Formats: sequence, C-alpha cells, structure tokens
Amino acid sequence: MSNVKILGFAGSLRQKSYNRAALRAAQQLLPQEASLELFDLAPIPPFSEDEEKTPPAAVTEFKRQIRQADAILIATPEYNYSIPGVLKNAIDWASRPYGDSAWSGKPVAILGASAGKLGTARAQYHLRQVFVFLDMHPLNKPEVMIGPAADAFGADGELKDEKTREMIRKQLAALVQWTRCLKQGLP
Ligand code: FNR
Repeated sequence: MSNVKILGFAGSLRQKSYNRAALRAAQQLLPQEASLELFDLAPIPPFSEDEEKTPPAAVTEFKRQIRQADAILIATPEYNYSIPGVLKNAIDWASRPYGDSAWSGKPVAILGASAGKLGTARAQYHLRQVFVFLDMHPLNKPEVMIGPAADAFGADGELKDEKTREMIRKQLAALVQWTRCLKQGLP
C-alpha cells in the first residue's frame, strides 16, 4: 500500500474555528506517502430517519468520500463536555440506513481544540464510545488535545505552538502506520 488517503473533517462550522485551523495545519504535517482531503460538514442537514434511504446529495458525497478514504481524521470541539451536534449529526447520517454504514472498519484518529485547559478531552472520550458501535478502529496514542486554543493559534488562524505541531505530526505518522497495519491484517 503506497499512498494512505486520509479524510478529515471538523465538528465546527465557525468561520474562525480552531478545529478547522488544526486540520489545515495537519495538511502541512503529513508523513510522506499520505494525503489529507478535508470535507466541510456545512451542507449536511439535520438527520431524519424518514430520509435515510433517500439522503441529500451532500450526505451521499460524504459517504462516498469516507468509503474512498483509507483512514479518517476528526477534529472535534467540546460543547458542554461532549461532542457538538453538528459532528454527531454527520456521523449519524453516514452510519445509516442500518447495514449501509460508511464507517465500518475504518481507522480513525481524533484531535481537538477548545477554550478550556483540557483541550476537548471529555468530548474525545465520548467520541471514542461512538466508534464502538460504528466498528471503527481508533488510534489510541498520541492523543492531541489543544487547550486553551487561543494560546496555540495566532490571530491569523495559523497553528503557532511548536509542541502542538509536533504532536499532530506524530499522530499523523502513527495513523498512517496503524492504517497500514490494519490493511495487512486483512485476508
Ligand atoms: C463551548 N466551549 C467549551 N469549551 C470547553 O473546553 N468545554 C466545553 O464544555 C465547552 N462547551 C461549549 C458549549 C458551546 C455550545 C459552545 C459554543 C462553546 C468553548 C469552545 O471550546 C470554543 O468555542 C471553541 O473555540 C469551539 O471550537 P471551534 O469552533 O473554534 O473549532
């Protein structure tokens, strides 16, 4: 397996989102033979089970890109000690209808930036719980928890903090290795 294709998305629609900025930084910190495409969750409407068998075009495209990717990278904010509705909504869409989830068997890494010192730790562990039912393969370490985000990013949205950049670099390298490892294990 040569190039590892990673699909990344952030659970924030905010223009100056730190989590979206963290994904842009990640694009500069990839190991060789890996690529990172970003998907914007903004066009994904609220989920309704009535529409799951005739999903809107944005959801069909999201599922297509997930299936094409070798691995997933999620940048989650923390809202009220958990994951934002925007992120859960997108995950739910791509998991349906039952038996047609796009997530099964995908390696996934999480990073997150928040205003608080714990840097999305609580949200990240909620997200890991969701991965259990989705049958995803989360990377355990390194964890990337960026907080307070305002200390790590400049006003221009650039990730300035060198230690954080290094953690993301290490996480991406580990995700690529984990993805290769899982692929090799398949018959
Ligand atoms: C927050 N914020 C927040 N921060 C945190 O560390 N723990 C939390 O539980 C919460 N809860 C929370 C709830 C809601 C509804 C909002 C809007 C915000 C602050 C949050 O970390 C901050 O707004 C980040 O900047 C959000 O991420 P983005 O949009 O910059 O990616």
